[in-house]
Amino acid sequence: MTENHSSPAEQAGQDAGAEQTSGRLTSQSIRSFVLRQGRMSDAQHRYLDEMMPRVGLEYRPAPVDLNQVFGREAPHIVEIGFGMGQATAQIAQVRPGDDFVGIEVHAPGVGGLCKLIQEGDIPNLRIVQHDAVEVLRDMIPEGSLAGVHIYFPDPWPKKRHHKRRLVQSPFVALIASRLQPGGYLHCATDWEEYAQQMLEVLSAEPLLANTVDSADGAPGYAPKPDYRPLTKFENRGLKLGHGVWDLVFRKVAP
Ligand SMILES: C[S@@+](CC[C@H](N)C(=O)[O-])C[C@H]1O[C@@H](n2cnc3c(N)ncnc32)[C@H](O)[C@@H]1O
Repeated sequence: MTENHSSPAEQAGQDAGAEQTSGRLTSQSIRSFVLRQGRMSDAQHRYLDEMMPRVGLEYRPAPVDLNQVFGREAPHIVEIGFGMGQATAQIAQVRPGDDFVGIEVHAPGVGGLCKLIQEGDIPNLRIVQHDAVEVLRDMIPEGSLAGVHIYFPDPWPKKRHHKRRLVQSPFVALIASRLQPGGYLHCATDWEEYAQQMLEVLSAEPLLANTVDSADGAPGYAPKPDYRPLTKFENRGLKLGHGVWDLVFRKVAP
């Protein structure tokens, strides 16, 4: 990762503490984003205002019944940090039998995904515009998810900012607790050193097992699953000459 690959969140980054309060993961525990205004087009504004009442789930510190939200019983997949949402919309379209919840704090991205949902008439996708740590902690019932996607999370390349990375033990433990047995966590990054951190952290989580057998000394990265399209940040990384690493772990029975 080079300096010019830093996301606006990273560029705006200030030093932050990775604190935990009484073992409870708080919104201050992992400050993985910096809320920035960003430029928002009129269309993004309009779609956000018109569509969020229909496709948005408001953050509330209480478990949500996703079967009720979608009006059917289907596997539930959460995507954390969908950016502008193009990959999210495509995945929901190629997997019509699954229901998706995309979580993002960046308003232009939320407006962008609203537009894609409207244009693509996508029934199996909802949006939460809030900190994913709090959404997972407060809204998602334990053992309820069939999958979690984290694609190209901000790599926070400076060492003093590593504590801002999303994929670290406390948050991975929270994700694992929300997965149902057999449910999967799929991460991808174009930042090699973050990929190594992901591999270490995911491998150390007792509730997760790698889907890739690394017994023969192979590193343990997964082939890119067919359902994951090229994402905006992946494309940016590839243009800078970066590699791409996918990791797919499954929840084991406790
Ligand atoms: C580097 S971008 C990647 C976007 C997209 N997944 C892609 O591959 O193009 C990371 C995104 O994660 C979002 N993000 C970071 N921390 C978050 C959090 N705690 N809750 C929700 N979104 C978050 C940021 O706002 C940003 O849009």
